[in-house]
Amino acid sequence: MKNQTYTATTLAGLEEVLAQELIEIGADEVQIGRRSVYFSGDLKLLYKANYCLRSALRILVPIDSYKIHSADDLYQRGKNFKWEDLFGCEQTFAVQSIVFSDLFNNSMFASLKLKDAIVDRFRYKFGERPSVNSKNPDILINLHISNEFCTISLDSSGESLHKRGYRLDQNEAPMSEVLAAGLIRLSDWDRKTELIDPMCGSGTIAIEAAMLANGIYPGTVRKNFAFKNWRSYKPELFQQIEEEVQPQDISPVRISASDISRRNIDIACKNAEAAGVLSLINFKVSDFKFLEPSVEMPFLLFNPPYGERLTPDDTNFYSMIGERLKHHYTNATVWIISTAQCLKSIGLRPSRKISILNGSLECSFRKYELYEGTKKVDVNRSDAE
Ligand SMILES: C[S@@+](CC[C@H](N)C(=O)[O-])C[C@H]1O[C@@H](n2cnc3c(N)ncnc32)[C@H](O)[C@@H]1O
Repeated sequence: MKNQTYTATTLAGLEEVLAQELIEIGADEVQIGRRSVYFSGDLKLLYKANYCLRSALRILVPIDSYKIHSADDLYQRGKNFKWEDLFGCEQTFAVQSIVFSDLFNNSMFASLKLKDAIVDRFRYKFGERPSVNSKNPDILINLHISNEFCTISLDSSGESLHKRGYRLDQNEAPMSEVLAAGLIRLSDWDRKTELIDPMCGSGTIAIEAAMLANGIYPGTVRKNFAFKNWRSYKPELFQQIEEEVQPQDISPVRISASDISRRNIDIACKNAEAAGVLSLINFKVSDFKFLEPSVEMPFLLFNPPYGERLTPDDTNFYSMIGERLKHHYTNATVWIISTAQCLKSIGLRPSRKISILNGSLECSFRKYELYEGTKKVDVNRSDAE
């Protein structure tokens, strides 16, 4: 099988985690970009990337790349491309664009130009055309224009890979599955010590941790990938991957997850069951204010509630978290993601700070190493960015 170049996209801050994951699954020429990682490999690796990667959003396959001087250049080149080799009139398609160029007023216009070119090509060749389906297309085409450089790719994933297929229900502020998986890897959790999420909401961190520690890949749950709709799809190759990457021996790594809300724990249990990891997670309803650690050297990773603006309630809530950790979690390693403003009120000195975006909100992912005698510190001095 021939090697080809691919692009995996991710969230800002997770590029290195994704590059590491790609190396682990056997990718070649791994190179970090902005919210993306470039790599090369054969068709099997492309399928495997979609099946196995936890911190990728999409895997793109560049099919044409060139310089344009006008919107019409995009149309002409698009019309000359042999789309019929990739898909047929009976299939639906959509074009998604990201444009940073004065040649186009908006990305919608660029999408329309390429869509027209594709439709006109099919009409000219066959007298009929494939339909556009922007919500759930069989074939998703990705158009990237930066100044005069244009790259057209096939999106091999289709729906973003954060949609694992296990989220049957959600609380009001669920964390992206890709972000949860990325944070777990950034935390250097050893996958043996019990991981505790004391504010688990719909259970994303606990579920991703259970899957990671037990070698269960996202592809065991998610069944839809856009590459399955391509003319070139080789089901036997995909089946090989499914057989090769089955978890070998499941070691029972414990995960504990709790939340103050009974409803959220019910949702989290449903999601964990759909992911096939319910038996690996100990869920319970509990207020963190009264939660005692279940092991001697606890490892906590969580995202407390936060809004865009800090309120007096937030300040009290975060200082409660700091007090609880200081007095009841001696010898714990604690990772918390929240806004820098909220985290100031915890009043403990972090040993690491990583800037990360959660949705569009700038957040900080901080490590606190607690030990006997950890001092509560002057929050305004110690925790400044
Ligand atoms: C931002 S959400 C967590 C989202 C979660 N990571 C997910 O993926 O769904 C914060 C959670 O903290 C919970 N919470 C708020 N106060 C709490 C407390 N005192 N003790 C435990 N959980 C609390 C909320 O019910 C909410 O589910």
